[in-house]
Amino acid sequence: MIEFFHVSKAYNGRPALQDVSLTIEKGEFVFLTGASGAGKTTLLRLIFRGDAPDEGQILVNNLNLLHVKKSAVPFLRRTMGFVFQDFRLLPKKTVFENVALALKVSGVPEGVLRVKTTETLGAVGLGHKLHALPLTLSAGEQQRVCLARAIVNDPQILLADEPTGNLDAELSGEILDLMKAVNARGTTVLLATHNRDLLHRLRRRVVRLEQGRVVEDGCPEA
Ligand SMILES: Nc1ncnc2c1ncn2[C@@H]1O[C@H](COP(=O)(O)OP(=O)(O)OP(=O)(O)O)[C@@H](O)[C@H]1O
Ligand SMILES: [Mg+2]
Repeated sequence: MIEFFHVSKAYNGRPALQDVSLTIEKGEFVFLTGASGAGKTTLLRLIFRGDAPDEGQILVNNLNLLHVKKSAVPFLRRTMGFVFQDFRLLPKKTVFENVALALKVSGVPEGVLRVKTTETLGAVGLGHKLHALPLTLSAGEQQRVCLARAIVNDPQILLADEPTGNLDAELSGEILDLMKAVNARGTTVLLATHNRDLLHRLRRRVVRLEQGRVVEDGCPEA
């Protein structure tokens, strides 16, 4: 589903990723970990073509990203959902509108859009906040809106960059459980975090980066 072949990326001559090769199968749940500056966000950005590698090749769904035209990038991104640490919710739109927007731009009919949006917000426990504005919500609630927005169009791949960054242990656990449920429905999940608690809560494959290199890749022992 996602393949990296000898991928390198530098910013201003300083390597952010070095010779990364990686295969992630459809339906996997993978933690991406490593110290600050190790290259986690860079790796995620390359997958959604937020940036292009200097060297190497990346395949997403058998599509070689080198050969994806700029005009096709929005279509590529529609197969993915994103959760970032900073919420990036539209402050003047309601919770419902923020989530529905992802479907609207894909041309989903109004009726389906209403059902899907309401369902997804219900699933993340925000059925009672449909008409609230993001800034009136708590951090955990805002993060759940982001998750709802990311999964409302049933993405094949979910990319999450420190999705629990601002949350306490309990709320982090809730977000993780929701992501686990999304994964159980078939979405491939790639979760970048340096929060060790999360890795301990869910024993899944861990890919650890150190100075842009993969230094560990495997399942922690039970
Ligand atoms: N747009 C950019 N311009 C210049 N340098 C960048 C850019 N993005 C990343 N870098 C550099 O690349 C390296 C990897 O950064 P990256 O953001 O991928 O790390 P990270 O593992 O996500 O760290 P954190 O845990 O702090 O989010 C860092 O040295 C960073 O300074
Ligand atoms: Mg980062």
